[in-house]
Amino acid sequence: MAAASGPKPTSPIAIDGPAASGKGTLARRVAEHLGFDWLDTGLLYRAVALSVLDRGLDPIQAATILNLRTLGDPRLRDDAVAQEASRVAAIAGVRAALLAYQRGFAERPPGGRGAVLDGRDVGTVVCPGAPVKLFVTADVAIRAQRRLSELHSRGLATTYSAVLEDLQQRDARDSQRAVAPLRPAEDALVLDTSALDADQALAQAIDLIERKSGGSSGMGSANA
Ligand code: C5P
Repeated sequence: MAAASGPKPTSPIAIDGPAASGKGTLARRVAEHLGFDWLDTGLLYRAVALSVLDRGLDPIQAATILNLRTLGDPRLRDDAVAQEASRVAAIAGVRAALLAYQRGFAERPPGGRGAVLDGRDVGTVVCPGAPVKLFVTADVAIRAQRRLSELHSRGLATTYSAVLEDLQQRDARDSQRAVAPLRPAEDALVLDTSALDADQALAQAIDLIERKSGGSSGMGSANA
């Protein structure tokens, strides 16, 4: 019934939530499971932030001339870049400059099957018509502990209180900004991962996607 190629009826899948909620891991695993392409939209804001920090560019100019090849730079994961990302992300002109690329990816994913995008405003602004929306959250103390373990596993020395403060500052800035603030879309399923591991979060997301696709049709074959 469905066309042999082209995005599936459950595409795009929008996954939003605060920092270190598990949304990135969930988005990557959902995309792998379905054979969809994944876009971590936070990387775009981080790349703009990095060129502001490195080259002293005006944030809107940096967003306008953003080179997508910089999205693989490992420095994008640094906390200083994340903090600057949440500052540049509050600027309407920066958000506007990054919108077309995100929408294009959602509508015409490179692999042609479907797209999963994760960020802060995918369900509310980038893809308000997305058929599947998840808002992934977790208690801030648990998110800080997860982020601390991740940083330690990368060999970075930091403390729990520094990570907690970083997350609280970003949460406040992301939720209180005037443009595209962090909040669940009205039709998003809120998934609290405080007591869930990554496998349990994936199972709940796949369950929602299958229900949205009208049972297992179209998705069942991907659900091993
Ligand atoms: O998701 P990640 O932590 O990499 O995002 C870095 C920052 O980029 C966030 O704190 C947020 O301010 C901003 N961001 C955004 N909208 C998105 C994705 C990220 O404002 N869709």
